[in-house]
Amino acid sequence: MDTNKRPETMARIQTQEQANEFIDQQVAEVRAQVGDRKVLLALSGGVDSSVVAALLIKAIGKQLVCVHVNHGLMRKGESEQVVEVFQNQLDANLIYIDATDRFLDLLKDVAEPEKKRKIIGGEFIKVFDEEARKLEGIDFLAQGTIYPDIIESDGVKAHHNVGGLPEDMQFELVEPVKLLYKDEVRVVGKALGLPASMVDRQPFPGPGLGVRCLGAITRDRLNALREADAILREEFDYAGLNKTVWQYFIAVPDMKSVGVKDGKRYEGWPAIIRAVNTTDAMSATIEEIPYSLLHKITDRITAEVDGINRVLYDLTPKPIGTIEWE
Ligand code: XMP
Repeated sequence: MDTNKRPETMARIQTQEQANEFIDQQVAEVRAQVGDRKVLLALSGGVDSSVVAALLIKAIGKQLVCVHVNHGLMRKGESEQVVEVFQNQLDANLIYIDATDRFLDLLKDVAEPEKKRKIIGGEFIKVFDEEARKLEGIDFLAQGTIYPDIIESDGVKAHHNVGGLPEDMQFELVEPVKLLYKDEVRVVGKALGLPASMVDRQPFPGPGLGVRCLGAITRDRLNALREADAILREEFDYAGLNKTVWQYFIAVPDMKSVGVKDGKRYEGWPAIIRAVNTTDAMSATIEEIPYSLLHKITDRITAEVDGINRVLYDLTPKPIGTIEWE
């Protein structure tokens, strides 16, 4: 039997009851596969790795070692949420690594998008590999592979994400959600008790805010981007748009324009809002955000975020514009 093929008889998981049945079955399978050995998981805090973590904690508890690498390019509050949910609430064996300085030092003065992506992807593997080597007796690597990753092997993740572990770091794989579609992974995550803010998250690229802080990343501009993005997300939450819009974020280009603040000249960066709808990320349309909300977001960002003096709304569909700017 091809274990990478979803059986035609497999019902779509939509209810908590179906999710519980799936969870029980996977818990038994993982226990049979792993026995009393140890499993390693790179926990980004994204939907797929979070659901796999919660499932494996249920199945094998402390035999799962989660490693969360904070590359300094996370959105506001994200790494904190990973620690809160997995270490504090689920009592997971979690290794938290703040590698912000390593990443930002390497990225200093690097403006070319592909180079930035390669540095971030390569360094991520390096940090994870270093941590893995410090651990003893790990036989398995868990991954949040989902069914679209398998059927579209040239799909979004495979296309964008760089690399894999070095040749001499080969583990047996544990991939408990590999036959599930994204919506099913979310239902399973909810049944496992993960917070909605984690399982209903919009897609977030592996290189994180690194592809939204355009050009050579500086700490002050990255910080402005993170704060402006947090305001956008908060306002979308208040307006209920978080439930309907597929992906929304801020990009901040490496350019300044002249403005006035408190009666004085104030040079700052523009914050560019991107809010798109799509089903497969191959093409995308633009969300029609009410003007009143755009004004509110503009007022808040320009008042609350140091260094931003304009807010722009990107009206470009995909194609011609990609969803991300880099
Ligand atoms: P583009 O910019 O190509 O993005 O229109 C399509 C979708 O892919 C996401 N994206 C990534 N996802 N790793 C990922 O897992 C990445 O490096 C990456 N880059 C872009 C993007 O956010 C959008 O949803």
